[in-house]
Amino acid sequence: MGTPTVTFIAGNWKMHTDRDEAKSLATSLGEQLQSEGSSPADRSSRVEVGLFPPYPFLCDVGEIAERFGFRLGAQDMYFEPVGAFTGEVSGAMLASTGCRYVILGHSERRHVLGETDEIVARKVRAALASGLAPVICVGETIEQREAGNTEDVLRTQIESAVDGLSENDFEKVTVAYEPVWAIGTGHTATPDQASDAHAFLRTRLADRFGADAASACRILYGGSVKPDNAKTLLAQDEIQGALVGGASLQAASFADIVRAALAVHTS
Ligand code: 13P
Repeated sequence: MGTPTVTFIAGNWKMHTDRDEAKSLATSLGEQLQSEGSSPADRSSRVEVGLFPPYPFLCDVGEIAERFGFRLGAQDMYFEPVGAFTGEVSGAMLASTGCRYVILGHSERRHVLGETDEIVARKVRAALASGLAPVICVGETIEQREAGNTEDVLRTQIESAVDGLSENDFEKVTVAYEPVWAIGTGHTATPDQASDAHAFLRTRLADRFGADAASACRILYGGSVKPDNAKTLLAQDEIQGALVGGASLQAASFADIVRAALAVHTS
């Protein structure tokens, strides 16, 4: 049974920081974690730390990430490999900057920028074709939850995003459950709400790829993860990491969330 063993703590910086701030945020995080004496290799065997800065700072942050044993990821990409698509960025471009991961289908892209399930699915396939590991975000709005439609929404989003993937492709996929009502609001899902959603998603993935592959897939929780709630959330069996927005913009609070993951991992 391929139970995921390395917790993933990912910082989605969204459209924040300028170049200097991005560099100092990454450096300060590295220094804070380093000062505790655990080497990057020791830490990464238990907790993988991913930084997802804005596109223009990927190369700068990537150099710093490499120094401290962090992974680099992008917040989005386009589904075409090359061509006349002004303003868009391809998977190959991201891979050439050192990105390992790319976030796809984030709720802000779905709800603010109008991305459909079909677009997300095309991006997932294009990311894998470029050698990137997709972090596929799914999650319901408060209206959908209150109407009792959470499971229908999650089913539609996840099944569409992984449609047509081979088992080999699926091994590279991370899923992030981010209830829209919890993002940037301070209203975190309860550990039970998150666990139920994760278990539901994992069952859908098991239907499609088999129980072993589904249990090896990391499902992250995102939505107002902070130092004071990280440990309880990460202690849930169904939660293999966190996708952190606001609290990833301060090195101290993001470092505390990484520490919480390390503590859960060793307890
Ligand atoms: P917050 O942690 O600010 O709620 O953002 C969550 C998120 O959207 C991460 O992708």
